[in-house]
Parts: sequence; structure tokens; C-alpha cells
Amino acid sequence: MHAFAIDWVRSQFPSLELSVDGQPAIFLDAPGGTQVPIAVTRAVRDYYRKHNSNVGGRFVTSKNTTQIVHQTRTALADFFHASRPEEIIFGQNMTSLTFAMSRALAKTWSPGSEIIVTSLDHDANISPWKLAAADRKCSVRTWEVRTEDCTLRIEDLRPLISEKTCLIAVTLASNAVGSHVDVAGVSELVGGTGIKLFVDAVHFAPHSRISVCSGENTNGWTNWRLTKCDLPQPSLRKSGKRGPKASRASQEFRVPSITSRKPDTKRTEAAESAERWK
Ligand SMILES: Cc1ncc(COP(=O)(O)O)c(C=O)c1O
Repeated sequence: MHAFAIDWVRSQFPSLELSVDGQPAIFLDAPGGTQVPIAVTRAVRDYYRKHNSNVGGRFVTSKNTTQIVHQTRTALADFFHASRPEEIIFGQNMTSLTFAMSRALAKTWSPGSEIIVTSLDHDANISPWKLAAADRKCSVRTWEVRTEDCTLRIEDLRPLISEKTCLIAVTLASNAVGSHVDVAGVSELVGGTGIKLFVDAVHFAPHSRISVCSGENTNGWTNWRLTKCDLPQPSLRKSGKRGPKASRASQEFRVPSITSRKPDTKRTEAAESAERWK
């Protein structure tokens, strides 16, 4: 068994060279301002130097940009075990994406419907939903955290759910106290009811691997399927080689099922294209 090459890993993060008042800086946060390794700074620099463009044009920088976006989506689909690159959506940060998602989903809510948010979540997974609910004349119920141990319990969620519930927004791990939420249990509870489950993985993702695909083997992988959304991107869809063809149903938001896929250890097209962009 090889020792974890911590010195090499640290050397990949230029921000760790920072010192504050003569002390090495420690970075504890994991959202939009997360530190990135040198491969990322190099790829971003190269992109702005050589390819910077909008997508979908016929000129060379635009074609390159379209290809880079596709390669990045493919690499991330591989990383998260998504079935297709189109399941990966980029945005400015979690807050902006949640605002966009809440606006899109709220169009499907009828007045009088209910949504559930939690008191353990970061505001980025509460306010966007509350604002959308107010616009649609929907009510908001709160799944309260147990103050004795800072956990969310499924038994406290159950009485909040009714035939009016259309969405539950919950975190996988708390940024404030570190508690993990039993999202697989929530998914099991709402499975087949049509209630959408929106999960904030900002503070979970840096600490644990996430698989969003179905399968039999849990093998230490997070055992649930993320709610997902497809953007209409015909040119990317044509070239997507991985996973099953998209059915109409799979292009809509879906309640997660409790399944996971065995990690794929093969060197994939995605990993190779990620290598090329180092
Ligand atoms: C748990 C959690 N979710 C969401 C956010 C918002 O993240 P972003 O900065 O990517 O909008 C944060 C920010 O600290 C967070 O801690």
C-alpha cells in the first residue's frame, strides 16, 4: 500500500503558499471560493489565451470552446457517474444555480402547494425557494434541526409531507456543524410520490465521493441519485457516446431512486480528455 503523497498534493495548490501574519493559511470553506489545483489555473489561463469565445459559432475559437465545454462535462459525468455529459450543468456558484433552478421548477407549482426547507441548510438553499414560493402563492414548511445533536431526523420530516408537497430542499452536509443528512432516507420516503428532491452537496462533495447513477453496489459510495435537469444542447447530445439514450422522461426532473453504481475503474474517454487539458 502506498502512502498518501500529501506533500505532492499540497504542492498542487498554489494558494497554500499564502501566509497570514507569518502563519500558513488554512482554508476551510468549500463553496464558490474553493481553492483549485494548478492544473485548473493552467487550463483556465490557456483557455483565455487561446480559445476565449462564445459557444455554437462556426469560427475556430467557438468550435474549440464548444469542444472544451463538452470535454469538461464528459470528465465530470465520469467523476460523478452521471449517465451522460448533458446531466452536468455549470453555473457561477451554487447560489446562482439554485435561484435559476427554483425559478424553473416554480413554474410547475400551483397556488396552495407546499415546499419544505430545513433549518440546518445554508441560506443559499432556503431563500431562493422561499422567494419562488411567495411568487407562486405556495407555502413553506420547515424541517427543524434537532438542537440537541444538530441533526435532521426523518421522523420529523414525515408529518410535514402531504399531498400538497411539491419539493423538499435539503443539504447533504451542514457547513455550520458538519452533520450529514440521510438523503437516501428522504429519497426513499418520497419515491414514487412526484415530490422533487433538491440536494445541496456543496459541503459534502469535497469530503466524499458522489455517484448520481443507478446500480446495485453501494461499496462506500453515496447511495442515492441526484435530482437532475437537462439543458437542450442538440450538438452535444449528438456526440454523447456514454450511457443510455435519453428518454423523454429522463429529460424531466425526477424524484431520486435509491440506487448506486459500482465505481467504474476503467480509464475512460473522459479521463483521457481531462489529461489532455492539464
Ligand atoms: C452548505 C452551503 N451551500 C451553499 C453555499 C453557497 O455556495 P456558493 O458560494 O457556491 O453560492 C455555501 C456557502 O458557504 C454553503 O456552505
